[in-house]
Amino acid sequence: MPPTAQPADSAEATGRDGARASPETVLARLEGVGVTIRRTPILRDLSLRLHAGEAVGVLGANGSGKTTLLHVLATLVVPCAGRAEVLGHEVASGSGTPARPRIALVGHQPALYPQLSLGENLRFVAQLSGRDAGKADRALAAVGLAGAAHRRAESCSQGMARRAELARVLMVEPTMLLLDEIHAGLDRDATGLVDEVVARVRGRGGVCVLVSHEPDRLAGLADRLVRIIDGHAVRAGVGQGSEAAR
Ligand SMILES: Nc1ncnc2c1ncn2[C@@H]1O[C@H](COP(=O)(O)OP(=O)(O)O)[C@@H](O)[C@H]1O
Ligand SMILES: [Mg+2]
Repeated sequence: MPPTAQPADSAEATGRDGARASPETVLARLEGVGVTIRRTPILRDLSLRLHAGEAVGVLGANGSGKTTLLHVLATLVVPCAGRAEVLGHEVASGSGTPARPRIALVGHQPALYPQLSLGENLRFVAQLSGRDAGKADRALAAVGLAGAAHRRAESCSQGMARRAELARVLMVEPTMLLLDEIHAGLDRDATGLVDEVVARVRGRGGVCVLVSHEPDRLAGLADRLVRIIDGHAVRAGVGQGSEAAR
């Protein structure tokens, strides 16, 4: 068993004005969002609200736009139609960036510099975000990677890279956590780590969005499920497949 993650040092989620977030607080609001990539509409008239303290599962077939949705929430993709507001900031060309320090995205590809060691990667993020190096080392230890801190990221397994990314999440304590197929390549012990990281973000009043093409993975982890169908977000669940998800 890997060691249990250590308690986070600080940080409760707050709104833009610094007020403590309550479950009624909307942390992200997408209204009629459209995203077109190379003239192909991927998201169309998609509406979704994310509240403080919740975990939302996003399902959908391959290519349905799940990753694209996460990229909008991460302010990396600007909608060509509709309106997206994330952590109090409009996602528009050049204006979504102030929200980014409070967002953590764990995507398909590990966000690690391949030629740096895991420790160097984590300490680099710590330095960029004004945290001390010790916090990076403690986060690595918390995900069971203390003994691998000197190993180059490029020589790590997919599962180790995922663990290192979870260490980054523990360290930066995001208000919005976006996990894209997080269970891919993870062993059973690390699955518990995902649960713990998600619980930690929610406990601080943040929000988690978990994308998966396997509904079973989200059982017990997400409070509600939405499914992307034809570019729209619809509430997922028995007999409710066509209801708007907002
Ligand atoms: N940068 C890109 N260039 C071209 N097509 C893209 C790009 N990103 C996504 N797409 C296309 O958009 C669609 C949705 O992709 P994605 O959001 O990755 O789906 P999912 O995560 O649900 O599998 C796919 O058809 C994909 O090929
Ligand atoms: Mg995807």
